[in-house]
Amino acid sequence: MAAPPGLPVFFVLVLILLLPPPPLRAEEPAAEPADTRDAARVHSAPAPLTDVARLCVCDLLVAQCDVNCCCDPDCSAEDFSLFTTCSVPVVTGDSQLCNQKAAVYSLDVEANPPERIFKLIDQVNPSIFCIHSTNYKQALYLKSPEIPTPENFDQLLEKFGGASFRAEPDSWDLDTDAQNPPEANETSRYEYGVPVQTEDAFLRLPSPVVTSWCSDANPAGFLVNQATKCIRSVSVEKCDSIQALSMLFYINSSILAVPKSSQMVNITVQSIVVQSLNGMRTLLSSSDVLRLPMVLDDLCINAVLGVNYHITHTDTGEIIEAAAAFVLGAISKEALSIEQSFEISFTQENAEPVPLSGNPGYVVGLPVRAGFQPQGYPSPGSSNKHSQLTILQGTSTQDCLAAQGARAPVLFGYNMISGCKLRITAAMKCQPLAQTLLDVLKGQSFPEYVASFGNSQAQDVLDWVPITQLHISEQSPCQIPVSLGIEVKWTKYGSLVNPQARIVNVTATITTTTLKQLPSGRERIIPITSSVVFTDISAPAEPSYKAWPTINIKLPFDFFYPFV
Ligand SMILES: *[C@@H]1O[C@H](CO)[C@@H](O)[C@H](O)[C@H]1NC(C)=O
Ligand SMILES: *[C@@H]1O[C@H](CO)[C@@H](O)[C@H](O)[C@H]1NC(C)=O
Ligand SMILES: *[C@@H]1O[C@H](CO)[C@@H](O)[C@H](O)[C@H]1NC(C)=O
Ligand SMILES: *[C@@H]1O[C@H](CO)[C@@H](O)[C@H](O)[C@H]1NC(C)=O
Repeated sequence: MAAPPGLPVFFVLVLILLLPPPPLRAEEPAAEPADTRDAARVHSAPAPLTDVARLCVCDLLVAQCDVNCCCDPDCSAEDFSLFTTCSVPVVTGDSQLCNQKAAVYSLDVEANPPERIFKLIDQVNPSIFCIHSTNYKQALYLKSPEIPTPENFDQLLEKFGGASFRAEPDSWDLDTDAQNPPEANETSRYEYGVPVQTEDAFLRLPSPVVTSWCSDANPAGFLVNQATKCIRSVSVEKCDSIQALSMLFYINSSILAVPKSSQMVNITVQSIVVQSLNGMRTLLSSSDVLRLPMVLDDLCINAVLGVNYHITHTDTGEIIEAAAAFVLGAISKEALSIEQSFEISFTQENAEPVPLSGNPGYVVGLPVRAGFQPQGYPSPGSSNKHSQLTILQGTSTQDCLAAQGARAPVLFGYNMISGCKLRITAAMKCQPLAQTLLDVLKGQSFPEYVASFGNSQAQDVLDWVPITQLHISEQSPCQIPVSLGIEVKWTKYGSLVNPQARIVNVTATITTTTLKQLPSGRERIIPITSSVVFTDISAPAEPSYKAWPTINIKLPFDFFYPFV
């Protein structure tokens, strides 16, 4: 091959430089969080043009059901029950958008008959460059620790020299109005565990108290998520006069927005599912009808089999919404009793996403972020599901049963130990005590996942480390948990100059012990402890030498023309 005429003769000198490998994780662009509300407004994207729920690439036959085409509008529930799989499980829209809708189809083969499941989810596109706004300015920078010097010694001593100090940064609640806290007033807010008040008394969550029969005396405590099951005796002839079988009984009285207030919150009916005698469930399309139990052909229909309360509250402890979802069913004449199930859950309104704890690596002293598995992979899950890893907070009385609910955030890099004392009397029963202690140790909702980076986003599924739960117990009938040990293993990640802390493994170990029956009148005090240990498992960095750059010279083959 000859060089094109007119081009000067030149060396082609290829110098292979040994470039350092590209950074493994690009730092996220730091959008200026001028105002989180502004950020939210900017964030909203224009509505997509394609409706993915209507897009169906496997729908080939006109007005006929295509086999295994789960998005085919021509298929009926009967057709779906014969499908073996969904040939097109996910339909996504425009791949050039940061956020796109995806229609997910699957088959529930457990159901009888098998049903098609359709979900519309928001997907985050990992393959294009998107700018996300962040809400916690401090987390965008690495903080250098304060080293005591003669100048700042007095100031540090003042801050940390006492018997106790706050480890949290001053600007902890950046987004909340910390300067003007709402009037703390016994009756102007609900606190954890306080019964949710209604016009006449309190919201009841029927539960098996002594026996498995339902007792209506169990108050629902604020922020205490509960699920109960109990048995109610019924007689079909009198079914329309049994209060506990009527929807009205569960939504009749309004909830007080705050205790002793005159402001009411009505309990709305969110949904009604009707269960047939053979267990088939159908969702009623309209939920604003009250269906009262009545006798029909030796059956009692519209009897309440389950109630699911969902309470929405503000960060100042005020209830703003209450909804109930019902399962109604038929009772046959032979049945003398039915099982009812009840559930209550609390959600904070517009919960701000938990502030970041570093960017990307964790900053020592900021909370370890934790959360739950987003429902149905690859759904991003809602970011306000995510919270912090917490441990039991000791109280001045050190009484475990009083300590329920008080939690302290686990701060990255801080080994912590806390505990309380449990007074055991002869009258205490093993099973409820074991459950109470587990609640004391693990808190209301112990997370399933921990964010491996301080800035992990909910939608980055691989950025979340599952918490491994271990149990160390003896062999005996009555075991009560006495300690929870959390070990967080982390490594330094990235360049040597600016290594980033990354959590790689979290284990939570519950140790139980045998509760021996005490002779009556005697009591014993046992300590309950919880602890957090951070372990750096980075391999030490080793010095090494770069290989010398090599020079690779290639000459055009007519280089010596016209001399040769
Ligand atoms: C608490 O709030 C109620 C109602 O808002 C008010 O009447 C009462 O004076 C307040 N009590 C205190 C101690 O602030
Ligand atoms: C509903 O409440 C009203 C008044 O508060 C009461 O008269 C009625 O008996 C209640 N109904 C049921 C089914 O509890
Ligand atoms: C609550 O229910 C009552 C009676 O059904 C109704 O008069 C009232 O307007 C409702 N309040 C709200 C806030 O919806
Ligand atoms: C974390 O470490 C424990 C104990 O070494 C191990 O059993 C567990 O599988 C690890 N978890 C993960 C997610 O690697």
